[in-house]
Order: sequence, then C-alpha cells, then structure tokens
Amino acid sequence: MSDIIAIDGLSKTYESGFTALRDVNLHIRKGEIFALLGPNGAGKTTLISIVCGIVNPGPGTVLVDGCDIRRDYRAARSRIGLVPQELSTDAFETVWATVNFSRGLFGKPADPAYVEKVLRDLSLWDKRKDKIMALSGGMKRRVMIAKALAHEPAILFLDEPTAGVDVELRRDMWNLVRGLRERGVTIILTTHYIEEAEEMADRVGVISGGEIILVEHTRTLMEKLGRKELRLQLAAPLEAIPAGLSDLNLVLEGDGHELVYGFDARHDQADVAGLLRRLGEQGIEFRDLRTRESSLEDIFVDLVHNRRTGD
Ligand SMILES: Nc1ncnc2c1ncn2[C@@H]1O[C@H](COP(=O)(O)OP(=O)(O)O)[C@@H](O)[C@H]1O
Ligand SMILES: [Mg+2]
Repeated sequence: MSDIIAIDGLSKTYESGFTALRDVNLHIRKGEIFALLGPNGAGKTTLISIVCGIVNPGPGTVLVDGCDIRRDYRAARSRIGLVPQELSTDAFETVWATVNFSRGLFGKPADPAYVEKVLRDLSLWDKRKDKIMALSGGMKRRVMIAKALAHEPAILFLDEPTAGVDVELRRDMWNLVRGLRERGVTIILTTHYIEEAEEMADRVGVISGGEIILVEHTRTLMEKLGRKELRLQLAAPLEAIPAGLSDLNLVLEGDGHELVYGFDARHDQADVAGLLRRLGEQGIEFRDLRTRESSLEDIFVDLVHNRRTGD
C-alpha cells in the first residue's frame, strides 16, 4: 500500500506561544482506517486541521496524495472530507441544498443520484427538505457527515465522531465507514474512546503532548502490550501467598478470597495449567475462575502515563 498522507517533521506553535505539535512524522496508507488516539489537548484536532488546511502549518511537510498542502492547497483539499469536532452548519438552508452546495464548492458536477445515496446511507433522505436549524443535534451531525462526503473524497477525517452521539448514529456511522473502506476510501478518526479504535481501526497512532509516541497495527499493539489476568475465587480465604508459590506473579485480593495471576498475553495456556497444578499441590481449592485481557484502554493509559513519568 502506498502512503496517501505523508507528514514529516511537522511542528506547530500557536500565536499564543503554545507548541501543540512537535516533530510529527506520520504516514497514512491508502485505504486504511487509522485511529489517532490521545487525551484531550494532545494535538489531535490541530494535526487534522493542518492537514485539512484550516490551521496554518508550522515547519515540516504535509503531502496529501502527493500534493503539498501549502503549494498545492486546492488539489490537496479536494481529496479530503472533514467532519469537524464542533457542529457548524448553515442553519437556514435545507439538508438537500447544503449537501449539494458542498459538492459544488469543490468544483464537482451535480450528481443527484450520488447525493441521494449519501443521504439515504445516513438516514437523512426523509429530512432532505427540512431546514437544518429544525433538526436535532444527532441529525445535524449526520448532515455534517453528508457534507464531508458530498464531493466523493478519497480521504475522510472524522474528528471525535462519536463524542456525545447516540447509539443509533454510532452504529450507522460505523456501517458507513466500513462501506467507504470497501470502496477504497482512507479513513482517519480521532477518538479517546479506545473500544472504537480497537474495533474499527487497522492501525493506531498514540499522540500525547503534541508528540506521536507510537504507531502500530491495532492487533500487534494488543498482542505486544496486552496482558492477561486469571482470577480465581478461592474455596477458603488465604492469609498470604504460600511460600511455595512465591516465584509466580500472584496477588491476593478481596480479603484473601481471590487470587489474581497476571501473565503476558503472548504466553500460552501452559502457564495456567502449571499454575492450577501447583495450586492443587498446595491444597488450594477454587470455586470459580475468570480471565481478563487488558484492553487497548489499559495499554493506552500505561503508555501515556509512562511517558509523563519517564518510566
Ligand atoms: N488556536 C489556538 N491557540 C492556542 N492554543 C491552541 C489553539 N488551538 C488549540 N490550542 C491548544 O493546543 C493544544 C492541542 O489542542 P487540540 O489540537 O485541540 O487537542 P485535541 O484535539 O487532542 O484535544 C491544547 O492545549 C489547546 O489548548
Ligand atoms: Mg480535538
């Protein structure tokens, strides 16, 4: 796969003197779903806004499908659809007019059949004659997505697409995203909902304090950093971990009623079988057992935390 977005050595200092991006290098592959994960204030919106030409870039280069965002602004922008974090729509227009107008802005010839499909995919078809100000917040957000797709962009940016969005819209949105991906559209979304990245994204980039601290395939990240936990509900409480088991990563919880065994997700079941055998040898019985895998959320919190504390 070739890179459809190439960001190299990009920094950004706002006029206030605040540096929001530091030497960002990020290459997005054509056709992938990429999640930019980071806490509030990490620089996600700044980064997206620069690529989309809304915020002036600092030093560094940004190429969109080979077009330099400074020298070749219009060509770069025409390849991009942006659903911004904040709702902003022309309140007095109808849904139909505003979406068609967006398409025209990019010099695309009218294509009512295409616009109809976009509106239907977003359950907006019945609302096409309504003025935007009459719509609910959720419907307005759907209009923002329709506007972003109006000119058939090759790249779609979704900035915090599901923050404060209802379940139905979230589901519609992810169906739409999957459909777009099948048609070869590259999708970049920012989020701090980790489950979303975990479920949707091919790759994840973690940004914190204006720096990209990691870019990885979502699966690899989970495998590499994921940990598993085995929780055993003991038949009788223990006062302490028996000396004969002190070599294992065991912790007692719940007033000695629960024994927790942490292990690396890459290691196989043999560890667990060995543990259970050794518990048996010690005469420790259990009533129930559960396993838990660390989520991307745990990994993410660890990463950002370690970065801050310099571990
Ligand atoms: N126009 C601006 N002027 C000064 N500082 C800004 C401006 N826009 C954003 N910032 C600051 O830059 C940092 C990154 O903001 P932003 O890119 O919106 O982060 P995110 O989208 O990850 O929450 C924040 O500390 C924010 O306060
Ligand atoms: Mg933001």
